[in-house]
Amino acid sequence: MKNLVLVGFMGSGKSSAGRLVASRLGLQFVDMDAVIEERVGQTIPAIFETQGEAIFRQHERALAQELAGQSDQVIATGGGIVLNPDNIADFSRTGIVVCFWISPEAAFERTKHTRHRPLLEAEADRQARIVALLKKREPLYRAIPIQIDVSQMTVTQQADALERIYRERN
Ligand code: S3P
Repeated sequence: MKNLVLVGFMGSGKSSAGRLVASRLGLQFVDMDAVIEERVGQTIPAIFETQGEAIFRQHERALAQELAGQSDQVIATGGGIVLNPDNIADFSRTGIVVCFWISPEAAFERTKHTRHRPLLEAEADRQARIVALLKKREPLYRAIPIQIDVSQMTVTQQADALERIYRERN
């Protein structure tokens, strides 16, 4: 069975909806950030702080290549996976790649009480940070053929939509 690969901005529900749909489809759930944390032995904020974003992206790239070589997984990627187009190309070869589109307002609402995303901690004005980052990344997210606008959806509705897409295409 093909992989189901979830892409989207921070707070778009990749991990929550991914875990849910994986159990419904009987696939293994893989959270890329959690795997990187476990392998490196540091949290994502600590990796960014002590090694820098570029090294984090190298870990992310290596894991994307590894996971794209396997099957039967629902993969929750990190929001910056689109920054290297090779990641999307590799995942597309062995899986169904779905982009969760989220408005900056909804992304802010969903992330405003969290503290584990270094790219959102960098500036005092989180709302402005999200608007700027999302605007910069928008063309990369929009380039993915399968899109779900999750701005007004619950996690269950997101999982329902994913399940439908996966069953139709697998
Ligand atoms: C990042 C998103 C994070 C994590 C890291 C960088 C990004 O994952 O990979 O903090 O560049 O958008 P989530 O999308 O799961 O928050």
